Amino acid sequence: MSDRFITDTLNQAETEFDVTLRPARFEDYIGQAKVKERLELFVQAAKGRNDVLDHVLLSGPPGLGKTTLAYILAEAMGVNIKVTSGPVIDKAGDLAGLLTNLERGDILFIDEIHRMQRAVEEYLYSAMEDFVIDIMIDQGPNARSVRLNLEPFTLIGATTRSGLLTAPLRSRFGLTNRLDYYQAEDLKAIILRSARILNVDITEDGAQEIGSRARGTPRIANSLLRWVRDYAQVKTGNRIDPDVADKALSMLDIDADGLDEMDKRILTTIIEKFAGGPVGLGSLAVSVGEEAGTIEEVYEPYLIQEGYLKRTPQGRVVTERAYAKFGIRPDAKQPDLL
Ligand SMILES: Nc1ncnc2c1ncn2[C@@H]1O[C@H](COP(=O)(O)OP(=O)(O)OP(=O)(O)O)[C@@H](O)[C@H]1O
Ligand SMILES: [Mg+2]
Repeated sequence: MSDRFITDTLNQAETEFDVTLRPARFEDYIGQAKVKERLELFVQAAKGRNDVLDHVLLSGPPGLGKTTLAYILAEAMGVNIKVTSGPVIDKAGDLAGLLTNLERGDILFIDEIHRMQRAVEEYLYSAMEDFVIDIMIDQGPNARSVRLNLEPFTLIGATTRSGLLTAPLRSRFGLTNRLDYYQAEDLKAIILRSARILNVDITEDGAQEIGSRARGTPRIANSLLRWVRDYAQVKTGNRIDPDVADKALSMLDIDADGLDEMDKRILTTIIEKFAGGPVGLGSLAVSVGEEAGTIEEVYEPYLIQEGYLKRTPQGRVVTERAYAKFGIRPDAKQPDLL
C-alpha cells in the first residue's frame, strides 16, 4: 500500500461511498457548529420572508463537507440543486444554459469555483447581482448584445483556495463560511454514524482511535473506517477495537498522530535536505515528488494547523514540534551545513 493510497482514493470525486454516507439534513451533519448555526439561521430567515436564499461561499480543505452542505441547503430550502464545477464551464454559453434553466429559488452549486475562467466568471457578476446576463450574439457588424432575464437563484460556490478568488466575485456572496478541520470527538461521532449505516461492528474507543488519525477530515475518517473494516474482516473476525484499528492503520503507514507517508516525507525532507528551512514551495515539491498545488492545498494546511510547519515570507520552515516528532534536536541539525 503506497503513501498515495489515501490521497488518491480520497481525491476521486464523489465515490459511491461518499454518497451513501453523506448526511442529508442539518441534524445529521456533525461538527462545524458555528457554520451550521449560521446556515440554519440564514435558511430560516429566507424561508420566513418567502425569499430566495442569498449566495453562499464555502471554503476549506478537501473532504470537510462543502458539497455535503450544498445538498443540505437545497434540502432545507426545498429547492432543486444543479451541480457543476469551475473548470467544466469553459464557455459563457455553457453558463448561460445552466442559469436559464434554473427555476425560482434553485441552487446552482459550482465546485472549485476558483478555477473558473475569468471570461466566464465575469458573466456571473450580473447574474448574481441583478439576475440578468448580457450575451453577445453574432459577430462583426451584426454583433449585438442580448439581455436574458433569470429567475432569482442561489449560487453556492465551493473552493479549497479562497485566496485565489477575485475580489469582485467574492464580494457578491451574501455569506462566506470557512470550514475548519474537525475535532477528534466529532470525527469519532462521524465514524460511529458511518459504522451504523454500513453495519460495521466497532467499539467506541475503536472509533476514537480511527478518528484521531483521520487528519481532521470526515472523508478520510470514512475511508479509514472502510479500510479497517476490511482488515478486521480478514484478520480478526470483524469487530473493530483500538488494537485492530491501530494494526490496520499502521499497515497504511498512518502513524499515531495521523500523519501519513507524505506528511512525514515533507517534514523530514525540510529537516534533512534544507536544514529545517526556509525552503520555497517549488524546491520542496521537486524534493518530495508531489505537485506544489497538492502540497499547498492538501498537506500543508493540516501540518500548519497541527503546529509542525510554518509559512514564512522566505519559505516553509519546520517547528520544534516537527524536530521532536522525529527525535532530532534542532541545534543538532546538519553539522556539515553549519
Ligand atoms: N459534518 C459531517 N458529518 C458527517 N459526515 C460528513 C460531514 N462532512 C463530511 N462528511 C462526509 O465526508 C464526505 C466528504 O464530504 P464532502 O464531499 O462534502 O467534502 P468536500 O468539502 O466537498 O470535499 P472536496 O473539496 O474534495 O470537494 C461526505 O460524503 C460525508 O460522508
Ligand atoms: Mg466537494
